[in-house]
Amino acid sequence: HQRSVMLNTGSQMPLVGLGTFKLRGIENIMLTVDAALAAGYRHFDTAAVYRNEVEIGKALRELLPKHGLSRADIFVTSKLGPRDQGHMTPEACQRSLDQLGLEYIDLFLVHWPGTQGLRVEDPQNSANRAQSWMALEEFHSCGKFRAIGVSNYTVRHLEELLASCKVAPAVLQVEFHPRLVQGELRALCAQREVCFQAYSSLGTGALLSDPAVLEVAKGCGRTGAQVLLRWAVQQGVPVLPKSCNPSRVQENGQLFDFELTQEDMEKLTGLDKGLRFCWDPTSVA
Ligand code: A2P
Repeated sequence: HQRSVMLNTGSQMPLVGLGTFKLRGIENIMLTVDAALAAGYRHFDTAAVYRNEVEIGKALRELLPKHGLSRADIFVTSKLGPRDQGHMTPEACQRSLDQLGLEYIDLFLVHWPGTQGLRVEDPQNSANRAQSWMALEEFHSCGKFRAIGVSNYTVRHLEELLASCKVAPAVLQVEFHPRLVQGELRALCAQREVCFQAYSSLGTGALLSDPAVLEVAKGCGRTGAQVLLRWAVQQGVPVLPKSCNPSRVQENGQLFDFELTQEDMEKLTGLDKGLRFCWDPTSVA
């Protein structure tokens, strides 16, 4: 499943990436990354706040040769921790590179519009975002970050960035699933050539027992997880399924040997309730 989308930088990003939030411990990480590479994953998504950059980097260095792959064959994403927004950003960017043990990172995102330690309504959040973005632009221009982007930004945060940036964001990574279809954000991304990328496509697992999802799954002989992930990629939206279980990692990667009918797609999209299972960034100033 190495299918990919083209970013506004001209480089390709694989449509399916392994989400690694909560993936901890070198043994566990080696097993999971090994299963992912075997199943065809070529995209790995981590973050400073996941506290696993060191282990992810080590696992990739050790396992790529086993799978006949080199650094250039894979796509690695990491993110700026919310405590490192503002003047701390350059140091934090270099720390991610060092912890991963990589010369360059394919995509580096501002993880969250706010700064840890500030109240959400503090206008300094906005000033810090602007300062952080300038640091990301520097790492982009010297080639250490091949692409830069943002995560958990709302329409307001993204518009503010688009109006002030020198380098436009390549990606917006947000929560996206049939209960939260993010129409306004998707339209803005499409219009401004920002790749809209999904996390928590399974609604953190909660949507796997949704009767409508189960019905579609039964109808096409696939699992609920595959249906939810296929619903996104069939619309061209890249996904980042996370699992610490090798067989579920494999299952989540099998998305390109079936198709959902138009009716199934609409049935799922019709579940939208603007419902979030993850943190809500709306009130961050
Ligand atoms: P596990 O790590 O035990 O597989 P999301 O990506 O929406 O945040 O969901 C992640 C959650 O869904 C994790 O708790 C993960 O648990 C679970 N999960 C991931 N893939 C599957 C799957 N194919 N079937 C069932 N549960 C899954």
